[in-house]
Amino acid sequence: MSPVENKISPCVKNPDPAIPRHIAVIMDGNGRWAKSRGQSRIMGHRKGAESVRRIIRLSGDRGVEYLTLFAFSSENWQRPPREVKLLMELFISVLEKDIDILVENGVRLRIVGDLKRFGNRICKLIKKAELRTASNSCMQLTIAANYGGRWDITQACQQLAAKSSSGEINPDEINEELLSRHLVTDGMPDPDLFIRTGGEKRISNFLIWQLAYTELYFTDVLWPDFSKQNFADALQWFAKRERRFGKTSEQILSQALDNRHSEVSK
Ligand code: IPE
Ligand code: IPE
Ligand code: MG
Repeated sequence: MSPVENKISPCVKNPDPAIPRHIAVIMDGNGRWAKSRGQSRIMGHRKGAESVRRIIRLSGDRGVEYLTLFAFSSENWQRPPREVKLLMELFISVLEKDIDILVENGVRLRIVGDLKRFGNRICKLIKKAELRTASNSCMQLTIAANYGGRWDITQACQQLAAKSSSGEINPDEINEELLSRHLVTDGMPDPDLFIRTGGEKRISNFLIWQLAYTELYFTDVLWPDFSKQNFADALQWFAKRERRFGKTSEQILSQALDNRHSEVSK
C-alpha cells in the first residue's frame, strides 16, 4: 500500500451517532484464504496484515474512536510451532515497520494481553511503539495479543483480591464498575460493534465481559478479502440496529424524540 493510501483523513471528530465509537474485530479466515489458493497459511497471515492497515485507515476516516483487533489468542499457542513462530515474526515486523504510519496519523497504539509469555525483544518493541504513539489522540488502536477474555477477568480478580487483602479496598466495594476498571480495556467504552470475518459464529474467548451489550456482526468474507465495501456494509448494518439495553422499543423512540426536542430548543 502506498503512503498516500495509508493516510487517514485529518482527525475526524464529532462523528455521526450512527457510527460506532468502538469496534472490536476477530480477524478470522487467513488460513482458509491461503489454502484455497494452494498457498501456505503464513501467506494468508501476510495478506491479512494488509487488511489490518485497511481497517485502521477506514475506521479513522469514519471517526471511530477505538478499534480493537484480536491478533493472537491465548489458545493460538496450540497451533503448529512453525505457524506460531512465523506469526511472532510477522508481529515483530509490523511493530518495527508500521509504527511510523500510526505516528503520522495520530493513532495511539496499545497492546493488551498476557504479555509475559512474549520474549524480551517483543516486549521491548511493544513498549517502544506504545511510547511513540502515547500522545496521539485521533483514534486508539488496541491489539489483543496472547489475550483471552477468561484470563482478563481472572487477572482483574487477582488485582482486586490483592487490594482487598492489603486493606486498600473493602470486598463490599467490588462491583461491576470496579471490576471493569481492572480489565485491560480500562478507560475505553465497551465495543458498540463486533465484527467477525471467516464465517464462524462464536466469540472464541475474545472480550467476553466487554461484549455483553455489543451488536454482533458475522460475515463469511475471509479476513484477507475484507474490503472497504465490506466495512461499509457492517457500518450500515450497525446503523439500523435499535440498541435497547433492556428497555422497550417505545421507550427508546420516545427518548430519541425528547433528545431531538431538546436539541431544537437549544
Ligand atoms: C485468524 O486466521 C488469524 C489468527 C488466528 C492468528 P486463522 O489462521 O484462524 O484462519 P483460519 O480460520 O484457519 O482460516
Ligand atoms: C480467533 O480465531 C483468534 C484470532 C483471530 C486471533 P481462531 O481461528 O483462533 O478461533 P477458533 O479457534 O476457530 O475459535
Ligand atoms: Mg480461524
